[in-house]
Amino acid sequence: METTLIILKPDAVQRGLMGKIITRFEEKGLQIVGVKMMQISPELAATHYQDHKGKPFYDGLVGFMTSAPVLVLAIKGVGAIAICRKMMGATFGSNADSGTIRGDFGVSNSFNLIHGSDSPEAAKREFGLFFSEGGVLDYERKIESWVYDMSGGDPE
Ligand code: RTP
Ligand code: MG
Repeated sequence: METTLIILKPDAVQRGLMGKIITRFEEKGLQIVGVKMMQISPELAATHYQDHKGKPFYDGLVGFMTSAPVLVLAIKGVGAIAICRKMMGATFGSNADSGTIRGDFGVSNSFNLIHGSDSPEAAKREFGLFFSEGGVLDYERKIESWVYDMSGGDPE
């Protein structure tokens, strides 16, 4: 099991797409284990996107991410990081595949609705930035053995 950090960006919140996007993850069988609505500070945006500092889109990205509230989610499942990235689609809405969140709900390249951790290391780092102790819950779902084949003992 792994947990990934997802951010529904200001455009997703403003356009009223939070519910639809969360529903996609729930319907996939992934478990929502943390939720936090917040407005990201310039300092936090800079730390979160530190790898992009100096790139031409960096200032616009920080401005966008801090412009209005976001919804931060912790989403858990076997292979959750890669699964969520696949469900998000390619970075640019203009060429993200149909069937993906970015491909179905947006056309913009910069306003691309959603962020997802791209590796276990990134997820660990991002949880430290966005959630404090107790912000991510550990709870059992009764449907777990129908979401996963548990016949071998572990979720498959
Ligand atoms: P994210 O980090 O937000 O999950 O997105 P990503 O991995 O798919 O894309 P990344 O390369 O990490 O870029 C971070 C965010 O910067 C904006 N961007 N704009 N106009 C541009 O050329 C450009 N390139 C990137 C997007 O909002 C992208 O999600
Ligand atoms: Mg990225």
